[in-house]
Amino acid sequence: MVQRFPKLLIVDDELHVRESLSHWFSEDGYDVEAAGSGTEALALLGRNTFDVIVSDIKMPKMDGLELLGRVRKKDANVAIILVTAYASVDTAVHALKEGAYDYLVKPFDPEELSRIVAKACEKVSLTKENASLKSRLARSGPKIVTGASPEMGKVMELAEMVAPTDTSVLIRGESGTGKELVARLIHTRSQRAFGTIVAVNCGALSDSLLESELFGHEKGAFTGANTRRKGKIELADGGTLFLDEIGEVSPKVQVELLRALEDKKITRLGGTQEIPVNFRLVCATNRDLEKAVRDGDFRDDLFFRINVFSLTIPPLRDRPEDILPIAEHFLERYAGAMGRQARGFSKEVETLLAQYPWPGNVRELANAIERALVVCRGTEIEREHLPIVSQNGEDSAERDQSLSALEERHIKRVLKQHAFNVTHAAKALGIDRVTLYNKMRKFGIERE
Ligand SMILES: Nc1ncnc2c1ncn2[C@@H]1O[C@H](COP(=O)(O)OP(=O)(O)OP(=O)(O)O)[C@@H](O)[C@H]1O
Ligand SMILES: [Mg+2]
Repeated sequence: MVQRFPKLLIVDDELHVRESLSHWFSEDGYDVEAAGSGTEALALLGRNTFDVIVSDIKMPKMDGLELLGRVRKKDANVAIILVTAYASVDTAVHALKEGAYDYLVKPFDPEELSRIVAKACEKVSLTKENASLKSRLARSGPKIVTGASPEMGKVMELAEMVAPTDTSVLIRGESGTGKELVARLIHTRSQRAFGTIVAVNCGALSDSLLESELFGHEKGAFTGANTRRKGKIELADGGTLFLDEIGEVSPKVQVELLRALEDKKITRLGGTQEIPVNFRLVCATNRDLEKAVRDGDFRDDLFFRINVFSLTIPPLRDRPEDILPIAEHFLERYAGAMGRQARGFSKEVETLLAQYPWPGNVRELANAIERALVVCRGTEIEREHLPIVSQNGEDSAERDQSLSALEERHIKRVLKQHAFNVTHAAKALGIDRVTLYNKMRKFGIERE
């Protein structure tokens, strides 16, 4: 890294003050310039960026206070130190209110001015570093592709708005719509971006496993607990806790979660010590939680806590403008990774992609593109590389066009394609195995 000397501007109408201070600070290793008036100082500021300005208050024409006001408008970062005669301490106090970094009363000890200038430089460099980190962060984070759809535009706008606050966010939407992606975006755009985001999939674990995953345990808390282990809530301290599939949490764990959220303290399983925790909560669900509350499956007090700000990601079929841009994004990504030639879609495929209902949403789309690339050797994805979307076109003659009938047919078709291997079919559909089993039960689909 190039070591830069701090840049200092001395403003004083008296030549001997300018000369002696310039000399003093140059010897201290500063890059010093001097101005004999406020106007001259402003001209220099137009051409350079300074870290610190030391200005006399009492000067003819433009005084130090006016200079302060005008510099503040131009450059919010530069630290301004004002030097005043004893009689005008009140003015100096006023100057502090107006945004001066500090002031010194004449006559002053140059060593003291040195100390103040050094501290001001440190503050300015920290502020600049912070700003640059913040802007880097603002550009980082997961890539969320959106086409021209106003629905997704709104979701992104709301996510950007809520991210920097510490508010709890509930992200809703069907499976595969990008809930986790949005949760991660919120974290990277938050004040907690330097901390970690800790994700817990509440739907994938049994009750007791989820409990120990969330709260951790002490050694010997239960059979098999051979060592002490911190829970995910503790690990999310200073960062974000992402509770995925919050709707699947059992009533017992709901109570424990609620307590942790209210008290901001947890106790590890088998432990007695209360551990303070500080995290931002982001939850996701594809369930109708209001209904779960009405049915008595989900506590209303917990629902109110997690649902302070809610974002609903619309299904892909409701934002057809996004389909092609997202498909192109995955085509480029996977083609690069798989060393394939394909760079685009045939016109026919573009139409089919846009018409297909994508019950597994973005995840299904991504999987379909990946699969197409496996079989496509040319430069364009053709209809035959995407059996799922092309079969749908042939289905249009079928009678029942309701969404659930469409879903049923689609699931049957994918299961058949994968010889009723539930793991493979679930992957292609972009849902987990349990969800697929549940849907098979719901539609009465059996192995053929
Ligand atoms: N707008 C998007 N742009 C790019 N990739 C996306 C977008 N939306 C979703 N994805 C990708 O699609 C996949 C599914 O997204 P994600 O896991 O966030 O969905 P989800 O809503 O959490 O699904 P589930 O409810 O099944 O957990 C991920 O690989 C994600 O990166
Ligand atoms: Mg998810």
